[in-house]
Amino acid sequence: MKATQTYSGTIEREIYTREEIAHAIDRLASEIGSDFAGQPLLLLGVLKGALYVVTDLARAIAQTAVRPSEVIVDYICVSSYGNETRSSGEVRLLKDTAETVTGRNVVIVEDIVDNGLTLEYLSALIGERKPAALRTCVLFDKPYHRRVGVRLDYTGLSCPDEFVVGYGLDYQELFRNLPYLAQLQPWVFQSE
Ligand code: IMP
Repeated sequence: MKATQTYSGTIEREIYTREEIAHAIDRLASEIGSDFAGQPLLLLGVLKGALYVVTDLARAIAQTAVRPSEVIVDYICVSSYGNETRSSGEVRLLKDTAETVTGRNVVIVEDIVDNGLTLEYLSALIGERKPAALRTCVLFDKPYHRRVGVRLDYTGLSCPDEFVVGYGLDYQELFRNLPYLAQLQPWVFQSE
């Protein structure tokens, strides 16, 4: 049986509420805002998962007491999971940045870090282009199955050792639009 667009009967439990996520985003915004106070900043959201993180973060930074002189949002799109719940281990670049990153202050904004391969790939790719500063920001940290060591400069919330959905994270492209982070009922994965 496949999960349906109605979401009825598919959510096992809510892990973080919309309010807890908003609170974490505000905290990340003040950390980033003060580190880049008075300087231009490029927020680089990793699609598709970070689509809400980067937009909410950009707006939260605009409201911090100390903030960058300007914030530009750009996107890069990679794929590492396909439609599965385990990473293939191969990261593919699907869409590059529109902005030039050379000489800019760049913060890569990710939804979640699990084995670390995606962030390692992106840090190397962007780092080669010689940004003035390069930092990483991750909303959900799932540290149990790291295959590579990655530097997380800004971390939001710890994530249990589960496949999670919501707030941008999907299972087979579904559930991204849940405003909270959730664990799915086991039957949803039975067709895998
Ligand atoms: P990593 O390369 O294993 O660190 O995984 C990074 C990417 O895998 C994230 O950007 C997500 O798109 C995806 N991912 C990792 N864990 C989950 C999860 O629990 N649910 C949905 N997507 C996930």
